[in-house]
Amino acid sequence: MIPINAPQIGEEEVEAVVRVLKSGILTNALGAGPIVKQFEEEFARFVKAKHAIAVNSGTAALHMAVVSAGIKRGDEVVLPSFTFVAATEAVVMAEAKPVFVDIDPETYNIAPEAVKKILTKKTKAVIAVDLYGSPADLKPIREIADQHGLKIIEDAAQAHGATYNGKPVGAYADVTCWSFYASKNMTTGEGGMVTTNDDEVAETLRLIRSHGEKEKYKSVLLGHNYRMPEMEAAMGVIQLKKLPKFLAKRKENAERLTAKLHGEKSLQLPREPKGCRNSWYLYTIRVKDADRKRRDTIVKKLRNEGIGAEVYYPWPIHLMPYYRKFGKWRLPETEKASEQVLSLPVHPGVTAEQIDFIGEAVSRLVRRS
Ligand SMILES: Cc1ncc(COP(=O)(O)O)c(C=O)c1O
Repeated sequence: MIPINAPQIGEEEVEAVVRVLKSGILTNALGAGPIVKQFEEEFARFVKAKHAIAVNSGTAALHMAVVSAGIKRGDEVVLPSFTFVAATEAVVMAEAKPVFVDIDPETYNIAPEAVKKILTKKTKAVIAVDLYGSPADLKPIREIADQHGLKIIEDAAQAHGATYNGKPVGAYADVTCWSFYASKNMTTGEGGMVTTNDDEVAETLRLIRSHGEKEKYKSVLLGHNYRMPEMEAAMGVIQLKKLPKFLAKRKENAERLTAKLHGEKSLQLPREPKGCRNSWYLYTIRVKDADRKRRDTIVKKLRNEGIGAEVYYPWPIHLMPYYRKFGKWRLPETEKASEQVLSLPVHPGVTAEQIDFIGEAVSRLVRRS
């Protein structure tokens, strides 16, 4: 099976982790050991942010971001339903209300016009997701946020290396959250990062990361244990160095697959929005005339041929059993996308021959299934 994503780990990562294990310093109770600090500095430089705060998952990053934005019980947070569930979890954990908006059918990202329409006096923030590694259109959302005094949290868990308006994603957000889960463009196994240019927010984030402690055993606010261990940071430092190479190979694979599939009239292929660079975390196609059943049949047949096609995401959050209680939403583009999309492997371990094989199999199956 050609997996949809696969960690790209070499001897350098193995050696770096072993060095940490032998050093005896595995973590730091007040938040950041020496290698975590190094990883934070290098990651901040890479995304051109003033501060980077390393944590133990992208979900932890999102929870801290929501809390640091002052979101609390009764507040409303506008976000997409067509994404991974973690951002919504963060909103619900803060006892705020998730308010779902529809997506742009071309990019699958939050539609700025939809955001404008759904604001109320209770709206405190917008969470935009760079889905599949394609940057959300944040300039118009920044304008809306500034007019209404809202915070923007960007979920860039899938977008390491993506750029928007020539800048690394995150440039238009107050706080940006990243994941280093094993499938991501760069990985530490589990892990995450929050980046921001705001000194005060960065200080709050560091406190939340480790029990709200400024000094040991003296909490000044409600915190958690969201610390990243040194072993993970050691992997992160190496993976970050390799990231430009990983991104170049993803782009090459994506472009080769587009060249193979561009004649298929029944498919909507992924595109880089104007002035942007995708991170190509996932290469997601839409089978335009398909219903859920037909799309699922195509995925099954691709998998039978050894191609690890996957659906991201088959159920929009507002239709998931747990989240139905937060309200009824009219999100036609979200629901349609969840029935028609499927993603194909373009990670750096996929060869040109495999891309050609994937392209041929997809063409054949969309014509016949
Ligand atoms: C868009 C998105 N947001 C948040 C997360 C959560 O990250 P993590 O798995 O590191 O908690 C993920 C990935 O898993 C994701 O893809």
